Amino acid sequence: MKIGRNDKCWCGSGRKYKSCHMSFDNRIKDFQNRGYEVPNHQMIKTPEQIEGIREAGKRNTMVLDYITPFVKEGVTTEELDRRIEEYTRKMGCIPACLHYQGYPKSVCISVDDVVCHGIPSENQVLKSGDIVNVDCTTIYNGYFGDASRMFCIGDVSEEKKKLVRVTKECLDLALAAVRPWGTMGDMGYVCNKHAEENGYTIVREIGGHGCGVHFHEDPWINHIGTPDSGLLFVPGMTFTIEPMVNMGQPDVYQDEEDGWTIYTQDGKPSAQWEYTILVTGDGTEILSY
Ligand code: MF3
Ligand code: CO
Ligand code: CO
Repeated sequence: MKIGRNDKCWCGSGRKYKSCHMSFDNRIKDFQNRGYEVPNHQMIKTPEQIEGIREAGKRNTMVLDYITPFVKEGVTTEELDRRIEEYTRKMGCIPACLHYQGYPKSVCISVDDVVCHGIPSENQVLKSGDIVNVDCTTIYNGYFGDASRMFCIGDVSEEKKKLVRVTKECLDLALAAVRPWGTMGDMGYVCNKHAEENGYTIVREIGGHGCGVHFHEDPWINHIGTPDSGLLFVPGMTFTIEPMVNMGQPDVYQDEEDGWTIYTQDGKPSAQWEYTILVTGDGTEILSY
């Protein structure tokens, strides 16, 4: 469907296309003609959607801030789940994970060799030495924010502490490599390089995702890449960066019984940190952390 110069812009601004997103779209077309993979309009949020996603992201960050002091030795992951659901609802929000494609809880909590999608349980007690990922997604006013953090419980070995630290560095280096009119490959390259330089591997099968209007939207975000290749980033894109970094081999498998929990094949620990971000006109904005 082609928009005429004098038609209303697709972004919902109410302005004429020619004085709104027309030159922006032409710039994207230029890249496409030069062989780049480019985003479609669903991947580019309107100012109104961005404001909604920003508010959802803030509340998701508040959930992670709230739960932080409770992530301690002796607590069950079930108790953390219960507190997160309660706090989320008290803010007038909905925990996005609950019933998402049949997922039974309000948060994912992944310990040691669990890579992601760990299901909270009354039988799981956090103990000294554990490294734990708490991954929260919050719906507010129909919009989504998604982020996760790592926690070190009690006395954690130096090698596991290093994995947690380097994984956060991978995320922050990846973020710093995201720029409007740059590519996903620029980002994946620095992220993977930092993991490899430390002797670690990045999980290949699971990546980040567009996020904001839906929980998981296009594009799929690869944490491995080649500079100046892959999808073009443009202002208005909102997505997660969430590298899963393994101390050993990159291979993972899914628990057949619960259908969710992802483990490292070699049983070695894995860490993950996640932001939801916005690509702006001159860089990025973190929407949830
Ligand atoms: N929050 C996870 C992510 O970062 C997704 C969890 S889906 C669930 O994409 F169903 F397991 F909760
Ligand atoms: Co998440
Ligand atoms: Co995510």
